[in-house]
Amino acid sequence: MILIETVKDLRAWRKTAGHVIFAPTMGALHEGHTTLVREARQLAGPEAKVVASIFVNPLQFGPNEDFDRYPRTLENDLMMCRGAGADMVFAPALKEVYHADRSIKISESSLSKVLCGASRPGHFDGVCTVVAKLFNLVQPDEAVFGKKDYQQLAIIRRLVRDLDIPVKIHGIETVREPDGLAMSSRNRYLSPAERAQAPALRAALVAARQAWQGGVTGAKKLLDLIHDHLAAHANLGRKDYIAVVDQDTLQPLDIAHPHSLIALAVFFDKARLIDNIEL
Ligand code: PAF
Repeated sequence: MILIETVKDLRAWRKTAGHVIFAPTMGALHEGHTTLVREARQLAGPEAKVVASIFVNPLQFGPNEDFDRYPRTLENDLMMCRGAGADMVFAPALKEVYHADRSIKISESSLSKVLCGASRPGHFDGVCTVVAKLFNLVQPDEAVFGKKDYQQLAIIRRLVRDLDIPVKIHGIETVREPDGLAMSSRNRYLSPAERAQAPALRAALVAARQAWQGGVTGAKKLLDLIHDHLAAHANLGRKDYIAVVDQDTLQPLDIAHPHSLIALAVFFDKARLIDNIEL
């Protein structure tokens, strides 16, 4: 596996790389990320090249978010990428990616206004801008994104559709702890008591899907079921959202259909956790 840090070296490498499958990340990698790289390796087979990027993108952090405190663990990240089968890691410095006087960004005006986007104005514009730039730099044929960040995945699908970017997008299943909790760097903020309750998020979503499979299609009924399950099993703080939406448009539904998603974001004391389930 090689490490490339400059655009010049990347351009030279790309000329002879052939078919490339790309897993963009912001580093601080855990099992969820290495699964993305492993899945890319699986898709690539022995011939195609697997590229991971490690770049903490300032554009997707709000003014009160933790860009400066975001963990930077390059050595460990490189080890994990190597272990997961990457051929190359692109880890550029900030100035390689953004000109000081940059004045163009990509703006999404529909899917980014709901769910997580409602409380993070500008976040998904930052994601779209950096992903479009990384696609232009790496020029992958295919790219992998986790379903854990389902809204991001849906917005990236819209980005490549609306801008005719010739990259095939793969959604990769969420990696879970044995008790069902979705892996996340935020899980470390859970107290032991909260960690014991956190699998209730997944259990509530699974119970809702079972009810839907049993014929309960009204979104309000499904959401009531989730609220009741969470109230009985977890001592949560604020619930940011729990919603039944369409998988592509992310717009809320009254009646859940087979292309629906139930998504939630809830707070424990210090951790905001998200999860979702496809119907
Ligand atoms: O999912 C992430 O880690 C980031 O949002 C991404 C896609 C690498 C863009 O910075």
